[in-house]
Amino acid sequence: MIEWNAATIKDFQTTLLNWYDQEGRDLPWRRDHDPYHVWVSEIMLQQTQVQTVIPYYERFMDWFPTVADLAAAPEERLLKAWEGLGYYSRVRNMQRCARQLLADYDGQWPETAAGLAELTGIGPYTAGAIASIAFNQPVPAVDGNAYRVFSRLLKIDADVAKPQTRKIFERAIARIMPTDRPGDFNQAIMDLGSSYMTARQPDTAHSPVKRFNQAYLDGDELAYPVKTKKPRPKPVAYVAVLARMGTDWLMTQRPSNGMLANLWTVPLIPVADLELADDATAADQLAAVTAYFKREYRLKLTVQPLDVRPVTHTFTHQKWTIQLLTGQLVTSDLAYFAGRRISESELTRLPIPKVQEKIFARAGVSLKD
Ligand code: ADE
Repeated sequence: MIEWNAATIKDFQTTLLNWYDQEGRDLPWRRDHDPYHVWVSEIMLQQTQVQTVIPYYERFMDWFPTVADLAAAPEERLLKAWEGLGYYSRVRNMQRCARQLLADYDGQWPETAAGLAELTGIGPYTAGAIASIAFNQPVPAVDGNAYRVFSRLLKIDADVAKPQTRKIFERAIARIMPTDRPGDFNQAIMDLGSSYMTARQPDTAHSPVKRFNQAYLDGDELAYPVKTKKPRPKPVAYVAVLARMGTDWLMTQRPSNGMLANLWTVPLIPVADLELADDATAADQLAAVTAYFKREYRLKLTVQPLDVRPVTHTFTHQKWTIQLLTGQLVTSDLAYFAGRRISESELTRLPIPKVQEKIFARAGVSLKD
Protein backbone atom coordinates (compact mmCIF):
# COMPACT_ATOMS: atom_id res chain seq x y z
CA MET A 1 0.00 0.00 0.00
CA ILE A 2 1.25 3.46 -0.82
CA GLU A 3 0.54 6.66 1.13
CA TRP A 4 -0.01 10.00 -0.56
CA ASN A 5 1.43 13.22 0.80
CA ALA A 6 -0.72 16.28 1.49
CA ALA A 7 -0.05 17.82 -1.95
CA THR A 8 -1.07 14.64 -3.78
CA ILE A 9 -4.22 14.37 -1.66
CA LYS A 10 -5.20 17.94 -2.53
CA ASP A 11 -4.43 17.38 -6.21
CA PHE A 12 -6.53 14.20 -6.22
CA GLN A 13 -9.48 15.88 -4.50
CA THR A 14 -9.50 18.74 -6.97
CA THR A 15 -9.10 16.50 -10.01
CA LEU A 16 -11.84 14.14 -8.86
CA LEU A 17 -14.36 16.82 -7.90
CA ASN A 18 -13.78 18.84 -11.07
CA TRP A 19 -14.46 15.73 -13.09
CA TYR A 20 -17.56 15.00 -11.01
CA ASP A 21 -18.86 18.53 -11.51
CA GLN A 22 -18.55 18.12 -15.26
CA GLU A 23 -19.26 14.45 -15.82
CA GLY A 24 -21.09 13.20 -12.73
CA ARG A 25 -24.35 11.49 -13.60
CA ASP A 26 -27.67 13.26 -13.22
CA LEU A 27 -29.59 10.65 -11.23
CA PRO A 28 -33.04 11.03 -9.65
CA TRP A 29 -31.72 10.61 -6.09
CA ARG A 30 -29.07 13.25 -6.63
CA ARG A 31 -31.56 16.09 -7.16
CA ASP A 32 -31.68 16.88 -3.46
CA HIS A 33 -29.98 15.67 -0.30
CA ASP A 34 -33.02 14.31 1.47
CA PRO A 35 -31.86 11.42 3.70
CA TYR A 36 -34.95 9.38 2.79
CA HIS A 37 -34.06 9.64 -0.91
CA VAL A 38 -30.42 8.82 -0.28
CA TRP A 39 -31.32 5.86 1.91
CA VAL A 40 -33.81 4.26 -0.52
CA SER A 41 -31.46 4.67 -3.49
CA GLU A 42 -28.49 3.27 -1.60
CA ILE A 43 -30.37 0.16 -0.47
CA MET A 44 -31.54 -0.46 -4.04
CA LEU A 45 -28.08 0.17 -5.47
CA GLN A 46 -26.49 -2.39 -3.17
CA GLN A 47 -27.85 -5.16 -5.29
CA THR A 48 -28.66 -3.71 -8.70
CA GLN A 49 -27.12 -1.47 -11.35
CA VAL A 50 -28.01 2.18 -11.67
CA GLN A 51 -29.93 1.84 -14.96
CA THR A 52 -32.16 -0.87 -13.53
CA VAL A 53 -32.68 0.96 -10.26
CA ILE A 54 -33.94 4.24 -11.76
CA PRO A 55 -37.52 3.08 -12.57
CA TYR A 56 -37.75 1.15 -9.30
CA TYR A 57 -36.65 4.23 -7.40
CA GLU A 58 -39.11 6.52 -9.19
CA ARG A 59 -42.01 4.15 -8.57
CA PHE A 60 -41.00 3.67 -4.92
CA MET A 61 -41.08 7.42 -4.36
CA ASP A 62 -44.39 7.61 -6.14
CA TRP A 63 -45.90 4.92 -3.91
CA PHE A 64 -44.16 5.87 -0.67
CA PRO A 65 -43.18 9.55 -0.88
CA THR A 66 -42.22 9.83 2.80
CA VAL A 67 -40.90 7.72 5.66
CA ALA A 68 -44.44 7.73 7.08
CA ASP A 69 -45.89 6.30 3.86
CA LEU A 70 -43.31 3.55 3.88
CA ALA A 71 -43.99 2.80 7.55
CA ALA A 72 -47.71 2.43 6.82
CA ALA A 73 -47.43 0.39 3.60
CA PRO A 74 -49.22 -2.99 3.45
CA GLU A 75 -46.68 -5.81 3.11
CA GLU A 76 -48.02 -6.89 -0.26
CA ARG A 77 -47.49 -3.43 -1.73
CA LEU A 78 -44.04 -3.28 -0.20
CA LEU A 79 -42.98 -6.59 -1.72
CA LYS A 80 -44.51 -5.55 -5.03
CA ALA A 81 -42.36 -2.44 -5.05
CA TRP A 82 -39.31 -4.67 -4.65
CA GLU A 83 -40.35 -7.37 -7.07
CA GLY A 84 -37.42 -8.26 -9.31
CA LEU A 85 -34.80 -6.56 -7.14
CA GLY A 86 -34.21 -9.64 -4.97
CA TYR A 87 -33.25 -9.90 -1.30
CA TYR A 88 -36.72 -9.07 -0.05
CA SER A 89 -35.55 -8.96 3.55
CA ARG A 90 -34.01 -5.60 2.67
CA VAL A 91 -37.31 -3.92 1.96
CA ARG A 92 -38.87 -5.48 5.04
CA ASN A 93 -36.00 -4.09 7.08
CA MET A 94 -36.55 -0.72 5.46
CA GLN A 95 -40.09 -0.70 6.72
CA ARG A 96 -38.90 -1.66 10.22
CA CYS A 97 -36.41 1.17 10.05
CA ALA A 98 -39.11 3.63 8.93
CA ARG A 99 -41.29 2.59 11.87
CA GLN A 100 -38.35 2.87 14.24
CA LEU A 101 -37.63 6.39 13.02
CA LEU A 102 -41.21 7.44 13.69
CA ALA A 103 -41.54 5.65 17.03
CA ASP A 104 -38.14 6.28 18.61
CA TYR A 105 -36.62 9.25 16.75
CA ASP A 106 -39.61 11.51 16.32
CA GLY A 107 -39.21 11.06 12.57
CA GLN A 108 -35.78 12.74 12.60
CA TRP A 109 -32.82 10.95 11.03
CA PRO A 110 -29.64 10.69 13.11
CA GLU A 111 -26.99 12.76 11.34
CA THR A 112 -23.84 10.78 12.10
CA ALA A 113 -22.69 7.49 10.64
CA ALA A 114 -22.60 5.92 14.12
CA GLY A 115 -26.14 7.10 14.87
CA LEU A 116 -27.43 5.89 11.50
CA ALA A 117 -25.79 2.49 11.91
CA GLU A 118 -28.01 1.83 14.94
CA LEU A 119 -31.08 1.72 12.70
CA THR A 120 -32.41 -1.58 11.36
CA GLY A 121 -30.89 -2.65 8.07
CA ILE A 122 -28.33 0.17 7.93
CA GLY A 123 -24.81 -1.21 7.79
CA PRO A 124 -21.54 0.71 7.72
CA TYR A 125 -21.71 1.40 3.97
CA THR A 126 -25.24 2.82 3.98
CA ALA A 127 -24.55 4.77 7.16
CA GLY A 128 -21.48 6.35 5.52
CA ALA A 129 -23.40 7.13 2.33
CA ILE A 130 -26.31 8.83 4.12
CA ALA A 131 -24.09 10.68 6.60
CA SER A 132 -21.85 12.05 3.85
CA ILE A 133 -24.44 12.76 1.13
CA ALA A 134 -27.35 13.99 3.26
CA PHE A 135 -25.52 15.45 6.26
CA ASN A 136 -22.11 16.45 4.90
CA GLN A 137 -20.19 14.30 7.37
CA PRO A 138 -16.66 13.48 6.21
CA VAL A 139 -17.02 9.70 6.47
CA PRO A 140 -16.22 7.08 3.82
CA ALA A 141 -18.86 4.87 2.20
CA VAL A 142 -17.06 1.63 1.45
CA ASP A 143 -18.82 -0.61 -1.06
CA GLY A 144 -17.53 -2.68 -3.97
CA ASN A 145 -16.82 0.50 -5.96
CA ALA A 146 -14.67 1.97 -3.20
CA TYR A 147 -12.81 -1.32 -2.74
CA ARG A 148 -12.04 -1.44 -6.44
CA VAL A 149 -11.08 2.20 -6.88
CA PHE A 150 -8.92 2.61 -3.79
CA SER A 151 -7.28 -0.80 -3.97
CA ARG A 152 -6.00 0.22 -7.42
CA LEU A 153 -5.11 3.82 -6.62
CA LEU A 154 -3.20 2.92 -3.47
CA LYS A 155 -2.33 -0.71 -4.19
CA ILE A 156 -4.08 -1.95 -1.08
CA ASP A 157 -3.72 -5.72 -1.17
CA ALA A 158 -5.87 -6.69 1.83
CA ASP A 159 -8.48 -9.34 0.97
CA VAL A 160 -11.79 -7.54 0.42
CA ALA A 161 -13.73 -10.75 1.10
CA LYS A 162 -12.69 -10.43 4.78
CA PRO A 163 -14.86 -8.23 7.00
CA GLN A 164 -11.87 -6.78 8.87
CA THR A 165 -10.52 -5.31 5.61
CA ARG A 166 -13.22 -2.62 5.64
CA LYS A 167 -11.39 -0.76 8.43
CA ILE A 168 -8.18 -0.62 6.40
CA PHE A 169 -10.03 1.03 3.52
CA GLU A 170 -12.01 3.35 5.80
CA ARG A 171 -8.81 4.65 7.35
CA ALA A 172 -7.08 5.09 3.99
CA ILE A 173 -10.10 6.90 2.48
CA ALA A 174 -10.68 9.09 5.55
CA ARG A 175 -7.19 10.55 5.05
CA ILE A 176 -7.99 11.48 1.48
CA MET A 177 -11.55 12.83 1.74
CA PRO A 178 -12.19 16.56 1.59
CA THR A 179 -14.12 17.89 4.58
CA ASP A 180 -16.13 20.35 2.50
CA ARG A 181 -17.69 17.99 -0.09
CA PRO A 182 -17.66 14.48 1.38
CA GLY A 183 -20.93 13.38 -0.26
CA ASP A 184 -19.79 14.45 -3.72
CA PHE A 185 -16.45 12.78 -3.12
CA ASN A 186 -18.10 9.46 -2.24
CA GLN A 187 -20.45 9.67 -5.19
CA ALA A 188 -17.61 10.58 -7.54
CA ILE A 189 -15.87 7.38 -6.42
CA MET A 190 -19.05 5.45 -7.21
CA ASP A 191 -19.16 6.99 -10.68
CA LEU A 192 -15.50 6.21 -11.29
CA GLY A 193 -16.06 2.64 -10.17
CA SER A 194 -18.84 2.15 -12.68
CA SER A 195 -17.22 3.96 -15.60
CA TYR A 196 -13.44 4.04 -16.00
CA MET A 197 -12.55 1.76 -13.11
CA THR A 198 -14.76 -1.27 -13.68
CA ALA A 199 -13.86 -4.77 -12.54
CA ARG A 200 -13.02 -6.54 -15.76
CA GLN A 201 -12.47 -3.99 -18.50
CA PRO A 202 -11.33 -0.75 -16.97
CA ASP A 203 -10.70 2.12 -19.35
CA THR A 204 -7.93 3.70 -17.35
CA ALA A 205 -6.28 5.29 -20.35
CA HIS A 206 -9.17 7.79 -20.38
CA SER A 207 -9.73 7.99 -16.65
CA PRO A 208 -9.52 11.44 -15.08
CA VAL A 209 -7.45 10.00 -12.24
CA LYS A 210 -5.16 7.72 -14.18
CA ARG A 211 -2.00 9.47 -12.99
CA PHE A 212 -3.01 8.62 -9.40
CA ASN A 213 -3.66 4.97 -10.21
CA GLN A 214 -0.57 3.18 -8.96
CA ALA A 215 -1.75 -0.29 -9.98
CA TYR A 216 -2.31 0.98 -13.54
CA LEU A 217 1.03 2.74 -13.61
CA ASP A 218 2.63 -0.54 -12.52
CA GLY A 219 0.66 -2.52 -15.15
CA ASP A 220 -1.15 -4.81 -12.69
CA GLU A 221 -4.52 -3.14 -12.37
CA LEU A 222 -6.54 -6.33 -12.82
CA ALA A 223 -4.85 -7.88 -9.78
CA TYR A 224 -6.88 -5.43 -7.64
CA PRO A 225 -8.97 -5.68 -5.56
CA VAL A 226 -7.57 -8.83 -3.97
CA LYS A 227 -10.49 -11.10 -3.23
CA THR A 228 -10.59 -14.75 -2.18
CA LYS A 229 -13.28 -16.85 -3.80
CA LYS A 230 -16.60 -17.49 -2.08
CA PRO A 231 -17.90 -21.08 -1.96
CA ARG A 232 -20.07 -21.93 -4.96
CA PRO A 233 -23.84 -21.81 -4.49
CA LYS A 234 -25.14 -25.24 -3.56
CA PRO A 235 -27.15 -26.93 -6.33
CA VAL A 236 -30.77 -27.71 -5.41
CA ALA A 237 -33.20 -29.44 -7.79
CA TYR A 238 -36.93 -28.68 -7.90
CA VAL A 239 -39.95 -29.67 -9.91
CA ALA A 240 -42.41 -26.84 -10.60
CA VAL A 241 -46.00 -27.73 -11.33
CA LEU A 242 -47.95 -25.25 -13.42
CA ALA A 243 -51.58 -26.14 -12.86
CA ARG A 244 -54.49 -24.07 -14.12
CA MET A 245 -57.94 -23.98 -12.57
CA GLY A 246 -60.01 -22.45 -15.31
CA THR A 247 -58.01 -19.33 -16.17
CA ASP A 248 -56.51 -19.16 -12.65
CA TRP A 249 -53.19 -20.58 -11.50
CA LEU A 250 -52.65 -22.84 -8.52
CA MET A 251 -50.13 -21.02 -6.35
CA THR A 252 -48.66 -21.11 -2.86
CA GLN A 253 -47.28 -18.44 -0.59
CA ARG A 254 -43.87 -19.30 0.81
CA PRO A 255 -43.42 -19.48 4.58
CA SER A 256 -42.84 -16.23 6.45
CA ASN A 257 -39.21 -17.01 7.11
CA GLY A 258 -36.36 -18.32 5.01
CA MET A 259 -35.66 -17.69 1.34
CA LEU A 260 -38.27 -15.70 -0.62
CA ALA A 261 -40.39 -15.37 2.53
CA ASN A 262 -44.09 -14.68 1.83
CA LEU A 263 -43.67 -14.50 -1.92
CA TRP A 264 -45.95 -16.40 -4.29
CA THR A 265 -44.88 -19.25 -6.54
CA VAL A 266 -46.44 -22.23 -8.26
CA PRO A 267 -45.89 -25.42 -6.22
CA LEU A 268 -42.15 -26.14 -6.10
CA ILE A 269 -41.27 -29.61 -4.93
CA PRO A 270 -37.69 -30.38 -3.93
CA VAL A 271 -36.68 -33.38 -6.03
CA ALA A 272 -35.10 -34.85 -2.89
CA ASP A 273 -38.61 -35.02 -1.35
CA LEU A 274 -39.81 -37.23 -4.20
CA GLU A 275 -37.61 -40.04 -2.86
CA LEU A 276 -36.79 -41.35 -6.31
CA ALA A 277 -34.55 -44.34 -6.83
CA ASP A 278 -31.23 -43.71 -8.57
CA ASP A 279 -32.48 -45.48 -11.69
CA ALA A 280 -35.87 -43.70 -11.77
CA THR A 281 -37.20 -42.91 -15.24
CA ALA A 282 -38.99 -39.76 -16.36
CA ALA A 283 -42.28 -41.64 -16.01
CA ASP A 284 -41.37 -42.62 -12.42
CA GLN A 285 -40.78 -38.98 -11.65
CA LEU A 286 -44.18 -37.93 -13.02
CA ALA A 287 -45.81 -40.66 -10.93
CA ALA A 288 -43.89 -39.49 -7.85
CA VAL A 289 -45.14 -35.93 -8.33
CA THR A 290 -48.72 -37.15 -8.58
CA ALA A 291 -48.23 -39.23 -5.43
CA TYR A 292 -46.69 -36.24 -3.66
CA PHE A 293 -49.70 -34.04 -4.39
CA LYS A 294 -52.01 -36.74 -3.13
CA ARG A 295 -50.02 -37.36 0.03
CA GLU A 296 -49.18 -33.77 0.95
CA TYR A 297 -52.16 -31.84 -0.33
CA ARG A 298 -54.86 -34.47 -0.93
CA LEU A 299 -55.08 -33.22 -4.48
CA LYS A 300 -55.52 -35.45 -7.50
CA LEU A 301 -53.76 -34.31 -10.60
CA THR A 302 -52.13 -35.56 -13.73
CA VAL A 303 -48.85 -34.08 -14.93
CA GLN A 304 -46.92 -33.72 -18.19
CA PRO A 305 -43.53 -32.25 -18.94
CA LEU A 306 -43.78 -28.63 -20.13
CA ASP A 307 -40.31 -27.77 -21.32
CA VAL A 308 -37.26 -29.99 -21.49
CA ARG A 309 -34.99 -27.10 -20.57
CA PRO A 310 -35.00 -26.53 -16.83
CA VAL A 311 -35.23 -23.00 -15.43
CA THR A 312 -32.13 -22.09 -13.45
CA HIS A 313 -31.79 -19.33 -10.89
CA THR A 314 -28.82 -18.51 -8.70
CA PHE A 315 -29.19 -17.02 -5.22
CA THR A 316 -26.30 -16.16 -2.93
CA HIS A 317 -25.98 -19.62 -1.43
CA GLN A 318 -28.08 -21.85 -3.69
CA LYS A 319 -28.44 -22.55 -7.37
CA TRP A 320 -31.90 -23.84 -8.24
CA THR A 321 -32.51 -26.06 -11.26
CA ILE A 322 -36.22 -26.38 -11.85
CA GLN A 323 -37.90 -28.84 -14.16
CA LEU A 324 -41.26 -27.68 -15.41
CA LEU A 325 -44.41 -29.76 -15.49
CA THR A 326 -47.96 -28.81 -16.32
CA GLY A 327 -50.65 -30.29 -14.14
CA GLN A 328 -54.37 -30.87 -14.61
CA LEU A 329 -56.31 -31.01 -11.39
CA VAL A 330 -58.92 -33.70 -11.16
CA THR A 331 -60.19 -32.41 -7.81
CA SER A 332 -60.50 -28.80 -6.74
CA ASP A 333 -60.82 -28.97 -2.95
CA LEU A 334 -57.85 -26.97 -1.69
CA ALA A 335 -58.50 -27.49 2.03
CA TYR A 336 -55.13 -29.21 2.57
CA PHE A 337 -53.16 -27.08 0.15
CA ALA A 338 -51.08 -24.17 1.48
CA GLY A 339 -52.19 -21.79 -1.22
CA ARG A 340 -55.07 -20.84 -3.48
CA ARG A 341 -56.28 -20.02 -6.97
CA ILE A 342 -54.78 -16.84 -8.32
CA SER A 343 -56.35 -15.02 -11.22
CA GLU A 344 -54.21 -13.44 -13.92
CA SER A 345 -55.16 -9.95 -12.79
CA GLU A 346 -54.16 -10.75 -9.20
CA LEU A 347 -50.77 -11.91 -10.44
CA THR A 348 -49.72 -8.37 -11.20
CA ARG A 349 -50.54 -7.31 -7.64
CA LEU A 350 -49.03 -10.16 -5.64
CA PRO A 351 -45.33 -10.23 -4.83
CA ILE A 352 -43.76 -12.71 -7.24
CA PRO A 353 -40.04 -13.55 -7.11
CA LYS A 354 -37.82 -13.36 -10.16
CA VAL A 355 -37.46 -17.13 -10.32
CA GLN A 356 -41.23 -17.45 -10.66
CA GLU A 357 -41.23 -14.86 -13.44
CA LYS A 358 -38.76 -17.08 -15.28
CA ILE A 359 -41.04 -20.08 -14.76
CA PHE A 360 -44.09 -18.21 -16.02
CA ALA A 361 -42.17 -16.89 -19.02
CA ARG A 362 -41.76 -20.49 -20.21
CA ALA A 363 -45.53 -20.87 -20.10
CA GLY A 364 -45.93 -17.68 -22.11
CA VAL A 365 -47.11 -15.62 -19.13
CA SER A 366 -45.66 -12.17 -18.64
CA LEU A 367 -46.17 -10.29 -15.39
CA LYS A 368 -45.56 -6.84 -16.78
CA ASP A 369 -48.76 -4.85 -16.90
N1 ADE B 1 -23.86 3.09 -6.33
C1 ADE B 1 -24.09 3.09 -5.01
N2 ADE B 1 -24.52 4.28 -4.59
C2 ADE B 1 -24.58 5.06 -5.69
C3 ADE B 1 -24.98 6.41 -5.91
N3 ADE B 1 -25.38 7.18 -4.91
N4 ADE B 1 -24.90 6.89 -7.17
C4 ADE B 1 -24.49 6.07 -8.16
N5 ADE B 1 -24.11 4.82 -8.02
C5 ADE B 1 -24.16 4.30 -6.79
